Amino acid sequence: MAEYDAIAEEYRDSKQIRFRGVIERFTLFQILGDINGSRVLDLACGDGFYTRLLKRAGAAAVTGIDISAEMIRLAKQAEAEHPLGCTYLQRDVATFEASATVDVVVAVYLLNYAKTAEQLLRFCQVCHDSLRPGGRLVGFNDNIQNPPKGTVSWKEYGLAKACRPDPVEGDVIRYSITNSDGRRFELDNFYLSPKTYRSAFRDAGFREFRWHDVSVHPAERSNPHWDRFVADPPVLPFSAIR
Ligand SMILES: C[S@@+](CC[C@H](N)C(=O)[O-])C[C@H]1O[C@@H](n2cnc3c(N)ncnc32)[C@H](O)[C@@H]1O
Repeated sequence: MAEYDAIAEEYRDSKQIRFRGVIERFTLFQILGDINGSRVLDLACGDGFYTRLLKRAGAAAVTGIDISAEMIRLAKQAEAEHPLGCTYLQRDVATFEASATVDVVVAVYLLNYAKTAEQLLRFCQVCHDSLRPGGRLVGFNDNIQNPPKGTVSWKEYGLAKACRPDPVEGDVIRYSITNSDGRRFELDNFYLSPKTYRSAFRDAGFREFRWHDVSVHPAERSNPHWDRFVADPPVLPFSAIR
């Protein structure tokens, strides 16, 4: 059973927490830019939150891949209720082979599931090999550049993270997420160093790989509520080009 089978509905509902829209979604689509007419693969798509938004943003075709049967069930259920033409497959990204290359790969919180440098390289290879030359990978990740020293709370955003004070490769980073209705649940990411991430992208064959800053939706930019998130982001966006 995949980790998310047990927390599928809680995770889906966590997409309603305000930082998801004001920062995560806004930043992701700002980095993606114009995807009109693009073929897109959404790796670790979960319940299809971004898969649907990518299709609505004009992507010609979007396929979502996730290891969790329950997350894929929720994604297919949403597709059945409001058909958008998204395709969903239950697969482990580590063994996934795309039948044809795409213009854009999206990977929102996939890479932080790699426990070893080898697993991270494998994820990066799958992202790379799924792209046409010049195609882009865009995603979000646990902010491995600034791991928490022990337990750190971003309570005002519904998040807390905990790990050993000086994490080593493969250490667990435990997230505690509190949904808007007060329900709390936990999930585990894995720490790998910034150097390991750089090597994995390079060895997979990507031309460019960079971390980005988070951006706040223009309607909320004067709201000091977001200052700490921007100054000390628990999660970070990235992009790379094949
Ligand atoms: C934090 S959720 C993100 C879901 C979605 N990208 C989003 O932002 O809403 C992480 C997802 O990664 C999936 N996952 C973890 N390891 C995976 C793997 N090896 N192959 C495919 N999916 C994986 C989990 O099942 C889970 O749905």
